[in-house]
Amino acid sequence: MRPLILALGERRFNLGESGSPMDLDRLLPGQGAWEVEIGFGKGRYLLASAATHPETRFLGIEVAPKYFRLAERRAVRRRLTNVLLAQGEALFMLCAVLPPGFARVVHVYFPDPWPKDRHHKRRLFDRETVDLVLRLLSPGGVLSFATDFQEYGEEVTKLLESHPGLEVEALPEWPGGPRTNYEVKYEAEGRPIIRLEARLVAAAESLLHPGGARAVTAAVVEETR
Ligand SMILES: C[S@@+](CC[C@H](N)C(=O)[O-])C[C@H]1O[C@@H](n2cnc3c(N)ncnc32)[C@H](O)[C@@H]1O
Repeated sequence: MRPLILALGERRFNLGESGSPMDLDRLLPGQGAWEVEIGFGKGRYLLASAATHPETRFLGIEVAPKYFRLAERRAVRRRLTNVLLAQGEALFMLCAVLPPGFARVVHVYFPDPWPKDRHHKRRLFDRETVDLVLRLLSPGGVLSFATDFQEYGEEVTKLLESHPGLEVEALPEWPGGPRTNYEVKYEAEGRPIIRLEARLVAAAESLLHPGGARAVTAAVVEETR
């Protein structure tokens, strides 16, 4: 596996230096709340948000090296000091690297839908992976999600609505503010977009999706037969 690379302005770290769980407050000290964007693409939303909210600390995760480098160059050019960029596989980072409960908001916009059944496990929002995303959130934290892929959007809505720890709201449109590249493009085309906000409610009895453990147990039983 390629090493995980992190960039903060002109400084670069590798996973060995950042450790696990990653000590985010050491890498980017401050009092500001953390927001995470998974799959930031060319970084349009992430960098504009960092510029308009200097009091907030942002972590962006992107697997594609060319988009990571593009966003890194733009972050340096704009002299942003409140955004940490990670080039790596998000599921690996969620499982092995990032600490739990540190983020006030997790943004996931237009994630790859992986439409083939055998690829569903690569989805960020599958019953076996959804808890990895949600475990980043602090109590009361919000997951913000958008997709143009209607079938995937409907599945994500059902998945989140059946989670005992979440209150889910479908939004017809976002309030003002920066947009991702895909959102700008699809809005201009008039393509329907499913937008959701899911809040982690502190009083939930169980913060794990009931489908996740069942799916994993079923897979293990299947394999050991
Ligand atoms: C369809 S693009 C959307 C980009 C951006 N969010 C937007 O709305 O313009 C999906 C992005 O997620 C990234 N991505 C896909 N799977 C990923 C993963 N497992 N870990 C990190 N990034 C991923 C892709 O490289 C791509 O940049």
